[in-house]
Amino acid sequence: MSVVLVTGAAGGLGSAVCERFASGGWDVIATDRPDARAATGDWIPADLLDVEAIREMVAQAVALYGRLDCVVNAAGLWTEGPSDATSEDEWDRVVGVNLKAAYFVSSAAIPHLESTGGSIAMISSDAGIQGNAGAAVYSASKGGVSNLTRALALELAPRGVRVNAVCPADIETPMLAGQARDFGDGDPEGYYAKLRAAYPQGERARFLQPGEVAEVVWFLAQPAAAGVTGANWSIDFGLSAGI
Ligand SMILES: NC(=O)c1ccc[n+]([C@@H]2O[C@H](COP(=O)([O-])OP(=O)(O)OC[C@H]3O[C@@H](n4cnc5c(N)ncnc54)[C@H](O)[C@@H]3O)[C@@H](O)[C@H]2O)c1
Repeated sequence: MSVVLVTGAAGGLGSAVCERFASGGWDVIATDRPDARAATGDWIPADLLDVEAIREMVAQAVALYGRLDCVVNAAGLWTEGPSDATSEDEWDRVVGVNLKAAYFVSSAAIPHLESTGGSIAMISSDAGIQGNAGAAVYSASKGGVSNLTRALALELAPRGVRVNAVCPADIETPMLAGQARDFGDGDPEGYYAKLRAAYPQGERARFLQPGEVAEVVWFLAQPAAAGVTGANWSIDFGLSAGI
């Protein structure tokens, strides 16, 4: 049986990824913050801002089934706001979870993925491909994730490990609801409407469902995707197609 380790597994996208792999017959190991709890999979909590905790979590995950076939780095934090009012703490938390943790989870998993011919999936964003006005820290973290994906793919190709990213636009998850609540000036519907106005679909614009993104993540882990590595796969209704 193949084994996947999913970070952010209690979150909107992470839980959909866990469900997709479980329904495909994989063993799922779920990790998220100690105060959270994933609904699907074997549960190993860890604070991803702590690199030692990351290494311990990956070691425990490998010990559980004795193998690892895929890592999905789905943990993440959003922030937005003027760059002349961003605290160092905010930068450290957002870049720490989105970029540094994705790197160190992947790093700890490399030898185990090498022995199974496995793969890594990063969750980047349309903000990893283009800058999002008002979200410089988040865009910097996701731009880092997208280029990390390319560099790791080249580094690990000789060792038989594939590395890809998906770059979704807005997904209906607790993160998006939190954005509208925290940054919508008391008008979450207005916040959503502004986001939808950026899409090329006009009146037909909508947000992604987590399962639509999980389906692509699932595909990237399959033998059918053996030729796909170093890709940043946009799932954004064409939002970034014009760059
Ligand atoms: N929702 C969107 O619109 C959207 C769009 C593009 C990309 N993404 C990306 O998708 C991924 C999943 O986001 P989501 O929408 O499911 O958000 P979410 O908030 O529902 O889930 C994120 C999860 O990450 C976990 N996490 C945060 N800090 C952590 C830490 N220090 N240690 C361990 N876990 C931690 C949270 O507890 C949470 O369960 C993120 O990388 C996000 O940036 C989201």
